[in-house]
Amino acid sequence: MRGKTRGVTGSGMTADRFGALAREAEALDAADPLAPFRARFRLPADGIYLAGHSLGPPSDATVERLAAVAEAWGGRLVSGWGEAGWIDLPLTVGAAIAPLVGADSDEVIACDSVSVNLFKLGHAALAIAGPDRRLVLAEANDFPTDAQVLEGLCALHGATLLRLPRDRIVERLGPDVALLALCHVHYRTAAMWDMAAVTAAAHRAGARVLWDLSHSTGAVELGLNAAGADYAVGCGYKYLNGGPGAPAFAYVARRHHAGLATPIRGWMGHAAPFAFEDGYRPAPGVRRLLAGTPPILSLVALHGAVGLAAEAGQARLAAKARALVRLFRAGVAAIGEPGLVIETPADGHGAHLAVGHPEAWRIVRALAAQGVVGDYREPGGARFGFSPMFLTHGAAVDAARRLARVLAERRWDDPALLAKAVVT
Ligand SMILES: Cc1ncc(COP(=O)(O)O)c(C=O)c1O
Repeated sequence: MRGKTRGVTGSGMTADRFGALAREAEALDAADPLAPFRARFRLPADGIYLAGHSLGPPSDATVERLAAVAEAWGGRLVSGWGEAGWIDLPLTVGAAIAPLVGADSDEVIACDSVSVNLFKLGHAALAIAGPDRRLVLAEANDFPTDAQVLEGLCALHGATLLRLPRDRIVERLGPDVALLALCHVHYRTAAMWDMAAVTAAAHRAGARVLWDLSHSTGAVELGLNAAGADYAVGCGYKYLNGGPGAPAFAYVARRHHAGLATPIRGWMGHAAPFAFEDGYRPAPGVRRLLAGTPPILSLVALHGAVGLAAEAGQARLAAKARALVRLFRAGVAAIGEPGLVIETPADGHGAHLAVGHPEAWRIVRALAAQGVVGDYREPGGARFGFSPMFLTHGAAVDAARRLARVLAERRWDDPALLAKAVVT
């Protein structure tokens, strides 16, 4: 393996390949309308950060907003809820996210985590499905939290969760299916569903669809309303760069607002929280998805970050992410390492590239020592996420070059790199 890798990476063909890619990247960077955004992020000085699909870096906008709110907090104290609009922040931030997912501003709310929002919207779908529709369909080997939450929910509703391989899902849709719950971009392979086509197929079968947009938002073009979507959830801490543990969001198509059932009837989702009524009267629209008091500092951070993404615009973000992944993919393919398998499909993918290798964990660690931060997913998968907000095209090619060096020089072949971290 070593000899072969050396032979290929040392060949004129590969040197040329990187050279040609680097020249292409230079031209793309020179014409990149999103290039100025990079300076607005606080990034490691000489690293290439490719874990943006796990946790994005802070932006000036985020840090400044947070600092301003922290400073004003003491002056405002309890009046901040009304005067500074804190009480409405979940809706304000939701409205800012809406154009990034192709929704209207009153259809999105920022709250809780993806897992909790999955539970709430899965419940909404099961609550209105008839007794003959007790099946929830999902993809096997998708992100664990989705299946775990849905399985628990099914147990509460007398329903069954059926997880099938990707290519058998659409054909299984039928009169017994209440809900199809899918991750739009697969967390590992980055394979992306055709949202409009799958939603239409589910609707023809009388089922509703819940999209998990965690790896999609801020990275690919999304048109929830154009696709006729029912429900969606998504992450604030990935390509939206909302910060560690940033609130997630939930989308409900306006046509479903009237009958929207939530399993957590908290006071913040009540029509009049400060009337302190004993009985439950749901707030109109997506506001009823709120349960408890919103986390203002986290929402403020997310608000700053979402503002930047909205300024960049989802079409430009998606186009750049595609170019970044394409360049890196071409670079990885040029390495010619036999154990290296690109797991991401060539067409219809999100903004990360999944690369399988028996030594993927040690490769990810050795690469981090070379300044390229990716991440690792069991079993044997390295993931490299290409956030269009702050990466240059040149960095995509450089990352592939550094990966080639790690492999050619077997820099991963060190027992000290075997120890697993708590968070990979
Ligand atoms: C596809 C997907 N869904 C859900 C989650 C979990 O989100 P949360 O921690 O907000 O519940 C993740 C986290 O990485 C994810 O990748």
